[in-house]
Amino acid sequence: MTFIPQDVINQVLERSDIVEVVSSYIPLKNAGRNFKAPCPFHHEKTPSFVVSPDKQIYHCFGCDAGGNVISFVMQQEHMEFPEAVRMLAQKVSVTIPEQNVQGKPRAQARQGLCHVNDLAVKYFHRNLLSDKSAEAKAARDYLKGRGITLDVVEKFHVGFALEKWDGLIEFLRTQGVSLRLMEKAGLIISKTKGDGFYDRFRNRIIFPIFNIKKQCVAFGARTMEKDNPAKYLNSPETEVYVKGQHLYGMNWAKEAIGRQDSVIVVEGYVDFMTPFQAGVENIVASSGTALTVEQIRLIRRYTHNVVMLFDADQAGEKAMIRSLDLLVGEGMHVRVAALAAGEDPDSFVRRYGIEKFKARVTQARSLFDFKLTFLKNKYDAKSVEGRAEISAEMLATISRFPNAIIRSEYIKKLAQALFVSQEALLVELKKISGKHLTPSQAGRKTGSEQAATTQKIRPVERNVLRLMLEEESFIPLTKAEVLLADFRNEHVRNIVEKIYEFCEQGNSVSIPALMSCFDDQKISQVISSLMTSENALVGDKKKIHQDCVNRLLQERMKSKRQEILHQMEAAKSSGDQKRLEELALEFNQLLKRE
Ligand code: CTP
Ligand code: MN
Repeated sequence: MTFIPQDVINQVLERSDIVEVVSSYIPLKNAGRNFKAPCPFHHEKTPSFVVSPDKQIYHCFGCDAGGNVISFVMQQEHMEFPEAVRMLAQKVSVTIPEQNVQGKPRAQARQGLCHVNDLAVKYFHRNLLSDKSAEAKAARDYLKGRGITLDVVEKFHVGFALEKWDGLIEFLRTQGVSLRLMEKAGLIISKTKGDGFYDRFRNRIIFPIFNIKKQCVAFGARTMEKDNPAKYLNSPETEVYVKGQHLYGMNWAKEAIGRQDSVIVVEGYVDFMTPFQAGVENIVASSGTALTVEQIRLIRRYTHNVVMLFDADQAGEKAMIRSLDLLVGEGMHVRVAALAAGEDPDSFVRRYGIEKFKARVTQARSLFDFKLTFLKNKYDAKSVEGRAEISAEMLATISRFPNAIIRSEYIKKLAQALFVSQEALLVELKKISGKHLTPSQAGRKTGSEQAATTQKIRPVERNVLRLMLEEESFIPLTKAEVLLADFRNEHVRNIVEKIYEFCEQGNSVSIPALMSCFDDQKISQVISSLMTSENALVGDKKKIHQDCVNRLLQERMKSKRQEILHQMEAAKSSGDQKRLEELALEFNQLLKRE
């Protein structure tokens, strides 16, 4: 069995999305901040399996299965730990270093890939500007036909891949780039027979994708043929490119986004370029998918205000609906702009001009109105069942607002819009934000059936641990006062020991990474159960923490006193007067110290 370094495991954890992985096996349903489903690991009708996207963990309150994304794959695929890590690593393009092989430091390897990509950008760009072939000329005509000017081509480094199997290979060879590196960059593909390589992109318009540091990390390649089913071909994920973590255009747009404190999110490359060129520079493209949490966090570095402007078609609407809850969950302020049916931002700007486009952005509707209209089209708002469906989906979004006042305002609006009572909505809201999450509310389980991992842990220990995992600042505070021995539960002791260790090494504690430190699955389950449980800590966390710490210290004193009393008994029965006096003195001093 090969040894996988912890930092590589952590990288796999960081890049993997537990929601994506779990939902590739079982359908997940939105439930407040979390997702839920019937547990894949035991038979049940009422879902008690919870996945937390924030914490990147899962837990089943029925059978107590729980852990991080690696444990999930182990359990689901019946794999050993290294095998599961490898499977995930492959998905998220993390290379696991071969044993005993001194690989190049990662940063250097990444630099190498970006360098090769940058060379390719130059090559493709030059083809588009000046190659004499008929297909290059056709590419220039195609862009001209779409109104994409030379300015735009130059600004965004648009290029063209010739209709050749080895155009890029030959060019990069003259630049001294090895085939291995070209392949690692995703630019070439090995022939099935295994003898040699060919260019990935042929006879396509090339849109280079840059990271925030303005290095090229990948390419999007568009066919010019109307009936080609693969309209866009994209680079595969590589060490420098994970699709769900990038936003096309951020490198050009970030200043304007910060300045204007808002961003317009569109779907396509061209939908980004056309408005940008016309002066709307606070814009990025999601590259045709729903937004991921990573993308939202990238946006959040610059602004909290998002206007979603996806294509006015079914796919666009669907992707938007999926993005909304995540945006709200990440604390973003979201509005939704709409275009005329069948238009996308590029075509809209060309047809109606940039001022009309700006007006559409200004008129963007609140997330609430947009989603309600969408749902009223989807379900029959005249029937009771339809209204129940609409309520349920609206409440899934409303429950994500962290602020209770905002939630209650929305409940009021929803009640009016659907002609239902606020009370009924509140009852339903409570269900989705709690029901499946706490064993007590699940109700159907008897004591003996009930998951017991955290049951055995005393509330005081549970609270301290949970606080440390929720807020890092509680770690040094706890460490300064509480000893490992003060925790009675062995699992908790093991976990706290690791947390203290992380803290001593100056590392921050991520929950999935913490879990991966333990071989014992039980320990991960303690953490997942604790962190997905909705028995939230109510009140001032600092105060709760101090109370719990005090309690632990008192207990330590108490057990010390008891220990001394025991020893005094023993000294008395053996007639050791001197020992008895010593112990009595110690006992009195202990009392004084309290
Ligand atoms: N996309 C992709 N792969 C596909 C289709 C689409 O990566 N097979 C991404 C591209 O980033 C594309 C975006 O999804 O820009 C939106 O797709 P679509 O609306 O189909 O294309 P447009 O951006 O409108 O492209 P064009 O205007 O050139 O037709
Ligand atoms: Mn388009």
